This record gives sequence, structure tokens and C-alpha cells, in this order.
Amino acid sequence: MELLSLLTLLLLAIASNEACQVQSSSSETTDWWQTAQFYQIYPRSFKDSDGDGIGDLNGITSKLEYLKDLGVTAAWLSPIFKSPMVDFGYDISDFFDIQPEYGTLKDFRALIKRAKELDLKIVLDFVPNHSSNESEWFQKSVKREKGYEDYYVWHDGKVNSTTGKREPPTNWLQYFRGSAWEWNDQRQQYYLHQFAVQQPDLNYRNPLVVEQMKRVLRYWLNEGVSGFRCDALPPLFEVLPDGDGQFPDEVVSGSTEDEEDRDYLTTTYIENQPETIDMVYQWRTVLDDHKRIYGGNSSVLLIETYSPAWFTMQFYGNRSTEGAHLPFNFNLITVMEQKGISASNVQEAIDLWLKNMPAGRTPNWVLGNHDKRRAASRYGKEHIDGMNMLVMILPGVSVTYQGEEIGMTDGEISWEDTVDPWGCNSNPDIYEQYTRDPERTPFQWTGGTNAGFTNGSTTWLPLAADYETINVEKELSDGVSHLKIYKQLVALRRSSKTLQNGSTKYQTLSEDIFVVQRSLTKSATIVLVINFGSVAKIVDLSQFDKNRTESLLLLIGSIDSTKKKGTRYDPKSLSLDPSEALVLTSE
Ligand code: GLC
Ligand code: MG
Repeated sequence: MELLSLLTLLLLAIASNEACQVQSSSSETTDWWQTAQFYQIYPRSFKDSDGDGIGDLNGITSKLEYLKDLGVTAAWLSPIFKSPMVDFGYDISDFFDIQPEYGTLKDFRALIKRAKELDLKIVLDFVPNHSSNESEWFQKSVKREKGYEDYYVWHDGKVNSTTGKREPPTNWLQYFRGSAWEWNDQRQQYYLHQFAVQQPDLNYRNPLVVEQMKRVLRYWLNEGVSGFRCDALPPLFEVLPDGDGQFPDEVVSGSTEDEEDRDYLTTTYIENQPETIDMVYQWRTVLDDHKRIYGGNSSVLLIETYSPAWFTMQFYGNRSTEGAHLPFNFNLITVMEQKGISASNVQEAIDLWLKNMPAGRTPNWVLGNHDKRRAASRYGKEHIDGMNMLVMILPGVSVTYQGEEIGMTDGEISWEDTVDPWGCNSNPDIYEQYTRDPERTPFQWTGGTNAGFTNGSTTWLPLAADYETINVEKELSDGVSHLKIYKQLVALRRSSKTLQNGSTKYQTLSEDIFVVQRSLTKSATIVLVINFGSVAKIVDLSQFDKNRTESLLLLIGSIDSTKKKGTRYDPKSLSLDPSEALVLTSE
């Protein structure tokens, strides 16, 4: 571990029981994305319009009013581009065209038009690390066509001195299990693929590739999108080869015995290279230039990286250069995946971001996405409201993965029905550790046939079992529901100056109790209290803030809370049921 991160952890451990204060960094002139509520759509599973059991663009367009009603500002669409769908759109064969299953460019334009009418922003997924092996670029590179010779990372491999046989250039492993090198008979060379065999890595040391991918950004900006979620940044660059053109092997990491698993080896040479940070700064320039030339709103870059803080934070930019607006903060996922849910683990996840973030940047909070088990399944169903409250009361922006607002849980998918390449590259005994199908089941609109996702008779993945009780239709008509709580939270964030500009104080009060307080001069203070434990507790909030003695008004309670909205409670003896979460105000 880096000495720096060890030190940070040590400091965090010492500081963990004292309240943490963060002054607001945002000025009065905030740009739209700094207070935005983002919503991730996984197009294949959101809404099907033509009965083929696969979600599509017209389906999304027909549900934009739902997003408007939720109060979200911007929707990020997972890839909608032409693709053989080996990795369900993350293997793109034409970056300038729409996947026919999802619709046409005309449908896309209609989607953008409707979104504009509703004042919703659309953000696309930009997948820079690789293309599909069916891409014309790759086909040309295989044939060494002029201009495409070095579009991908090709290598002769090496000859084993004992066996005399040709072997891959290094021991590098792909994310989806197994070697990251594949032999190509036609070209008589190996190519690098940090993901599936069908996802060859583009060669960013080739200026033609860099320019081509900037064209992709400009093309979709011209179509009216408001920015990009940039996919899989850590493996964008690999280390430079040595003078003989050889790459170094990675060493055994010691974190797993499974030799096919990417974690079996370190990723020192194949992830987190300095050139990757610079590339993001270049993309930022593309976006800013576009705005300078054509006017309009700013467009944003959201960066996918599960890298350590020392690397991730550099994406924000430095003193002289602007970088990504929002490198995703996955700490609420990763810290709790390792350690489980508790007040102190939540605090650790928050500290890890806020204490490492450069001054003046906008924080963000993420509970889930299409690669991680659904929030309600991972944290426990009883914590979904508390976690939704947390990400919306904390400063900055948050990103909702479709279904988190209604508390959707994972589907159960057998080995036979498994389609995710990560799952398929394993075996029936271990596939559940790898497959991402459970978090990708169709969105639950109603309790009726196929959850209202499609009028057809099949769905591309089976539905999750609980769709009859967890769905939009039911939650809109129920008196209290996760969905109603979510909507109240978004509305509060949109209306509250305190949440938009206030300072933040948070503390683990005991093993189970976590408190966040947002304050702003001349505005109402907002307090969030969560009981992560399974026994009832009485909390004295004056312990947390000695000024907190006046009664507090209840604004929003978690679904099973028996407290009444609009009632005042004594902060010196606030009772909390197991898993209860409350948003209160000093008003
Ligand atoms: C990102 C995506 C994931 C995809 C991978 C390869 O991690 O979120 O779904 O499989 O990149 O593009
Ligand atoms: Mg369809």
C-alpha cells in the first residue's frame, strides 16, 4: 500500500469518533451539474416499446415524464451504440450509430427533443478503452490497413526457451477472467484486451486513436447531449514497453488463489498510468471548446474509476487545468462491500472522499450501478430509505441507479440463464461471485404481466421475484413508499438552500447511530439521523452539537417509521427504532 494512503487511514482511525466539519465550497453561482440529481438508465432493462423483450430508446422516451416527476436533472444512458452485445453494449462496433435493437438515430433525436421539452439533460456513456472486435477499425487493423496498423495494442509474444512454443507477451489478466492477450491468426500477433476477448484495447499511444475518440465526443455533443459518463478509465493506458519492445509481468498479489481472477496479480503496469489523467484533461478541453464555439449549457464528464484516492482525485484537475467534473465516488459501495453496513463504516466511506478531495471541487455519492448488486440487496432492504437520504443530504450531487428509488432487489438467475460475460467466463460453482445479471433485471413498472416492462411475452433477463410488491404503480398509490420518500428527498434538495450551499457536519454517535447536519446562515438547519442497528436507541443530539437543544420538526421518515411528519421532537431524547432514518429541520 502507498505510504500516503496508510497515513490517511491512520489519521482516519484516530479521528473517527469526532465530528467532521466541511465548509461549503460552492459559491452562489453554481453550474447546473453541481446540484444535479443524476439517474442512470440501463437501456436494455428500462422500458421496451416494441414487444421484443429488450428495452429501447422509444421506451425511454415514453418514460421521460416519470424522470421529470421524480425531479431528476439528468439521465445517463448506458451504451446505446451499435454492438454485437457480448458485453451488452460495452463492446461497440460503431461509435457513431445506434444499436438497431434500441432504435435509430431518428429515435435518438426524438428522445433528445422530448428531454429538452421537459428540461431534462441526457448524458451518454463514452467507452474509450476498447471497441468490439467487429468494429471496422479492428478489422482494418487485423489486415494492417494503412492508418490502422497500430490502432490496437499488438505484440509478437515471446518464444518459450524450453518448449520452443510461442506464448503471450506477459502474464497480464483481463477483468473477465483469464489472459488479457489473444492470438490473432490472420495478423499473426497477439492483441491486448483488458476486458473480454471480443473487446480489443485501443492504443492510446497512437495519435490517430486519440483524435478519433475526440471525434466521437464532438459527434454526440452536436446531437445535443449534455456530457458523458466515461467508462473504465483505469486500464486506458498500459506502461510503455522497454527498449526491446517487451512489457513487464505483473507479480502475484496474494489476494486470491484463483489464477484466472484479475486480482490474482497486481495491476501496477496495466492500470492507473499518468497518461490516463492527461487524456481526461484533453476530453475536458473538447467539451469546453464545444461550449465556447456553440454556446449553451456546460456539458459534464463523469469518470468511472475504482482506483485508490491518490489516482481518482487527480481526475478533478489541478491548479492549472480543469479535469472531470465528477470522478465517481464509489466508497459507499466498496467500503461496505468489504466491511458491512454500520455507522462507522459509512463515516469511513464519507471521510475517504471528503478528506482527499481537492478544495473547491464538487463531491458525489453513488449507491449502485449495473455492475454491482442492487443497493436494497447489498445494504439490506431495511436500509434503502436511510441510504437514499444519506446521498441526498450530503453535499454535492448523487447518482441513482434505476430502481433504487423504488427499492428494487436483485434477480435470481441460474447458471443456465446467465448471459453476462464475466459470469459466463467462470463456472456453475462460482458464477454468482462474478455475474452482473442480478442487478440488470427489467425495471418494475407495475405488478402486472412482465412488470409492465414489455407487452411481449418474454424478457431478455428473468424478472426479479418481488415485482408484484415492488413497482412504480403500487408505490405511487401507497400512502408511504420508497418512491414517495425518494421524491420528497429530491424535492427537498431542489428547494433547500442549506442542502445546496450549506456546510456539513457528520459524526458516528455510537456503533449504530450516524448523524449528518447541514447548516447555512439565515436558513433552516437540516439534520439526518440513521439507526443502522437492529435495536431501538435513544439519541441525544446535543452531544453532537451543543446548540441543538430546540425541538426539531420531522420532514421525512423511513418507510416503517411510526413518527408523524410535521411533528416536533426533542433532540435531547430522540428515540429511533431499528433501521429507522429521519430527516428533521430546525424550522
Ligand atoms: C465498465 C462498465 C462495465 C463494462 C466494462 C467494460 O466497468 O461499467 O459494465 O463491462 O466497463 O466496458
Ligand atoms: Mg424493444
